[in-house]
Amino acid sequence: MTDMEKLREEVAEHRTPQEDIEPLLVNRWSPRAMTGEPLDEEQYMPLFEAARWAPSSYNNQHWRFLYATREDEEFEQFADLLGEANREWTEDAAVLVTLVSKQTFDHNGEPARTHSFDAGAAWENLALEASRRELVAHAMQGFDYEAAAEQLDVPDEFSVECMIAIGERAPAETLPEELQEREFPKGRKPIDEILHHGGFADWIPLAGTDLSHSVIKITYPELSSAWVHHTSRCWCQVCKRVCQRWAAVMRQPLHWASASDPVRQVLQDNFWPYHWSISTASLQRYYWW
Ligand SMILES: Cc1cc2nc3c(=O)[nH]c(=O)nc-3n(C[C@H](O)[C@H](O)[C@H](O)COP(=O)(O)O)c2cc1C
Repeated sequence: MTDMEKLREEVAEHRTPQEDIEPLLVNRWSPRAMTGEPLDEEQYMPLFEAARWAPSSYNNQHWRFLYATREDEEFEQFADLLGEANREWTEDAAVLVTLVSKQTFDHNGEPARTHSFDAGAAWENLALEASRRELVAHAMQGFDYEAAAEQLDVPDEFSVECMIAIGERAPAETLPEELQEREFPKGRKPIDEILHHGGFADWIPLAGTDLSHSVIKITYPELSSAWVHHTSRCWCQVCKRVCQRWAAVMRQPLHWASASDPVRQVLQDNFWPYHWSISTASLQRYYWW
């Protein structure tokens, strides 16, 4: 069994990693449905313990976690900081957390450029441990940052970073309808959109590009090589990159065929049932944005 076969069923339905990586990383996602049951200290403390082991610049450990459990008086105070959209589903959280980070180094008081970055690493550790324990840990930026700093007495040298809802998972059906539709593990941009060998100068990013003229036909039968042709016959760099992106996403080698190419005719004659057209609207929806 490869590691990727250890993906949870609900995750495997929506996520296809491009490389064989630790399944915990792919299995983590941000559900909203929680039971409203309290958690014991021994259930949520390991999450903060996991956060403690994150790396940080000069090992300064800039992160600080302020929290309230649903049995605490302060729970309402934490909940009141949240925007309306987040309030709706966090009602059922067992623990609400506000993550803040210290902006300066302990050893010399100088500004620590990466305090937020380091706090982000601590959040991810917490989230991974929660996922391993099949608990919800959902980060939020939809809250009043100023009110959080004021009401939680956050000192000036600390930045408020995010809030986190922690709780026991519940079925999606317990959420209001519009949230049920969003209760699934989200995909990710393909690797070539976030990774480039070298500097930015020769990187043509596709995100935000107008692709309206590139209606693409993908041929993807049981052939050793995929044949990609876009009907606009535009061979500009952007259109070429669209085709290359497709080949990468489909993990297929790419064969370029011009309209007069006999290969195209052979494919069209023999494999037409396998052809399909994909409008850029659906490309955008499913793959890039
Ligand atoms: C810093 C941060 C802030 C976020 N803010 C919110 C938020 O206010 N409300 C919300 O419902 N989700 C929020 N999310 C969750 C993201 O939407 C979610 O992580 C993203 O869609 C990727 O999905 P996944 O975590 O399920 O992989 C936030 C996530 C992070 C890391």
